[in-house]
Amino acid sequence: MPFDYTSVQYRSLEGRSVVITGGASGIGEEMVRAFVAQGSRVSFIDINRELGEAVASATGASFHFCDVTDIPALRDVLARIESAHGGVNVLVNNAGKDDRHDMAEVEPEYWRRALALNLDHQFFATQAVAKGMAKAGRGSIIMLGSISWMRGRPGMIGYTTAKAAISGMTRTLARELGPSGIRVNCIVPGAILTERQEKLWLTPELNQQFLDLQALKFRLDASHVAKMALFLGSDESGGCTGANFIVDAGLTQN
Ligand SMILES: NC(=O)c1ccc[n+]([C@@H]2O[C@H](COP(=O)([O-])OP(=O)(O)OC[C@H]3O[C@@H](n4cnc5c(N)ncnc54)[C@H](O)[C@@H]3O)[C@@H](O)[C@H]2O)c1
Repeated sequence: MPFDYTSVQYRSLEGRSVVITGGASGIGEEMVRAFVAQGSRVSFIDINRELGEAVASATGASFHFCDVTDIPALRDVLARIESAHGGVNVLVNNAGKDDRHDMAEVEPEYWRRALALNLDHQFFATQAVAKGMAKAGRGSIIMLGSISWMRGRPGMIGYTTAKAAISGMTRTLARELGPSGIRVNCIVPGAILTERQEKLWLTPELNQQFLDLQALKFRLDASHVAKMALFLGSDESGGCTGANFIVDAGLTQN
């Protein structure tokens, strides 16, 4: 039974303009649903047109097709959203891809691609909306990290490098933008069950491994991450910036 957010109500999010990248599936899709349920005006960006259109018609959010690794196109779509909604109040830099790769086989082009998919756009999307947020004197930017780099996970060096960098980027951006009233925080998800994770990697053994490692003995789903995004997007987290918010059921305590 999907979480319906009727128990969560952040009045400060009502009417706010919220942009989510990678909102057509997984955690991003759940965040689209979560912010729509708060009465926010939600725009989301994704490379998957079919899923994007389906999520838009199910939620009423507006879908914008864009590959976030194409920085000129990303800037263009963010400018269009800004002018359609009179600005952006909350930006969630969620798009990413945790492709696995053998370290010995990584070539420069693949390396650049991993960083483009998981790091570059988080900076350039932030840069694109920062000016308008500064003019408004407020804004909340939410980056998506990952506990994989904290755990030193092998087989995904491009991904873990990008996600570790986001932690440093968050701290510097918080300093750069704080004086303008803009907060920058990072959600660091643990092992979250999404369709992609279930399809590609879930086995009964892996499931048990996560349960053994976690302090809490249930698997997390996208709604656990979306609820943190609502808090960080809302004025109720007004004192928080430059911080990592780990949502991992205690996994990194191991
Ligand atoms: N699921 C987890 O366990 C987990 C753990 C740690 C961190 N995260 C992070 O959370 C975020 C969301 O992950 P998820 O599990 O929901 O992934 P997902 O693959 O289920 O969804 C990612 C979405 O991003 C879109 N996307 C991918 N490449 C894109 C591109 N070039 N341009 C535009 N859109 C693109 C996809 O189409 C998809 O809709 C990512 O940043 C991921 O690194 C996830």
